[in-house]
Amino acid sequence: MFLAPFVATPTPVVRQMLVLADLKPGEVLYDLGSGDGRAVIMAAKDFGAKSVGVELREDLAKRALNNIQELSLTEKTQIIQKDIFNVNLSSANVVFLYLTTSANEKIKPKLEAELKSGARVVSHDYEILGWKPSKIDNFCENPKLGYPSHTLYVYKR
Ligand SMILES: C[S@@+](CC[C@H](N)C(=O)[O-])C[C@H]1O[C@@H](n2cnc3c(N)ncnc32)[C@H](O)[C@@H]1O
Repeated sequence: MFLAPFVATPTPVVRQMLVLADLKPGEVLYDLGSGDGRAVIMAAKDFGAKSVGVELREDLAKRALNNIQELSLTEKTQIIQKDIFNVNLSSANVVFLYLTTSANEKIKPKLEAELKSGARVVSHDYEILGWKPSKIDNFCENPKLGYPSHTLYVYKR
């Protein structure tokens, strides 16, 4: 089921999301709808995590893999070209989302069923209705240049 079109999260926003989610070295991050792999790459390269991207589109999955290979991050990362609904999330410490509110509503039962206690979900711009966020951050990359701000939601299971 296609949930959202490809729109990349700006790199400074990805970083802020991983900081807010308190991603630690050795933890496992899943980006559900991983696009060009930027969150997967940053999680492994800058936070020392093991990261997994799940991406339905073949061209984007290939692009992410190319980016990963160029940075020699293949041992710490994985790109799975599958529908989010067909991937088990029980090993995730952090789930990264940039979908839509209605898409979040669709994957919510899966997150509730599979995520372990202590796992964090960080969502760019779209909340998970019915869940109480542990943090909400309005993050602006560059207010002086009039960049729009991004609302970042963190949830703890
Ligand atoms: C808004 S983009 C976010 C990309 C990336 N997470 C980021 O923040 O830069 C959403 C991505 O989800 C992918 N997608 C949509 N539905 C999906 C599904 N059911 N399973 C896997 N990927 C999906 C799209 O192809 C797209 O690349």
